[in-house]
Amino acid sequence: METTTEKASDSLKIGMTAEDTFEPRLINGDCLDWLRTLAGSSVDLILTDPPYNLGQFMRDRATNLKAMRENYFGAAGWDDSDCNQWAETMNGFLSEAARVLKPGGSLVVFMAVIKVETFVRLAQENGFYYKTTGTWHKLNPMPRNMNLHFINSTESWIYFTYGARTGTFNNCGHAVHDFFETPVTPRNERSYGKHPTQKPVGLMEQFVGLLSNPGDLVLDPFMGSGSSGVAALEAGRRFCGIEVDPYYFDIASKRMREVMGNDRQLKSRRDSHPDEESTGGIR
Ligand SMILES: C[S@@+](CC[C@H](N)C(=O)[O-])C[C@H]1O[C@@H](n2cnc3c(N)ncnc32)[C@H](O)[C@@H]1O
Repeated sequence: METTTEKASDSLKIGMTAEDTFEPRLINGDCLDWLRTLAGSSVDLILTDPPYNLGQFMRDRATNLKAMRENYFGAAGWDDSDCNQWAETMNGFLSEAARVLKPGGSLVVFMAVIKVETFVRLAQENGFYYKTTGTWHKLNPMPRNMNLHFINSTESWIYFTYGARTGTFNNCGHAVHDFFETPVTPRNERSYGKHPTQKPVGLMEQFVGLLSNPGDLVLDPFMGSGSSGVAALEAGRRFCGIEVDPYYFDIASKRMREVMGNDRQLKSRRDSHPDEESTGGIR
């Protein structure tokens, strides 16, 4: 099965994926341009991991970081904005996110803890209802400089709803903590190439399982290598992803093509009733 890919050079006339197709719609372009092409009130869950605005900060402090860190992204170029530019980009994204989400839809955004307050303010200004700031703990981070300071092993995520105070929450009667623990992205999820801040699929699937239902549309406007899309498709959700960098876009396309090739598994997931769905590894 093929994925639907589009280039930013195409005209901006395309509507949202048809409700009856599970082919992901993948766009190689700037999400601030391309979000405008998506139909209003069409998305159930936005699950995304935008630039944290740490590129300049890290570069200013870097010594030999690049040599030490496999996931060094200070030189990648996509996280270089100054604070005001970054806030403007996040504001542009949030205003389109508010337009495309269905009433009661959810937004989960990964963020550096020092930017959480700024992001929550911007989201509230765009009409989002703030729910939770949670933590992702990496079980096996690189123990860099472990005798000098605390090992960097956590990232934050922020959860909002739009147009309602509650949205889909498939906890199936279990208490769900605002704390997820997984290993860092395993090597077998990097077989088509590496992204310096690639999220593990096992983490993304927790949010997909809890905050959306089979057949729902999941959107990631800062898709990177496509971990959110792999998690969404494997759980029988529809997916739309946007990524500006052609190299990362190519990795994401290949990963999703592989998932779509595994049609038998997808078919059985698509056919299952929401009540029978896995809770996505609730802790
Ligand atoms: C933190 S990374 C996402 C990593 C992703 N979660 C993964 O698992 O691979 C952020 C991504 O957003 C992309 N990006 C930055 N600005 C963008 C924009 N305006 N439109 C689309 N993509 C953008 C970057 O190229 C980068 O790949």
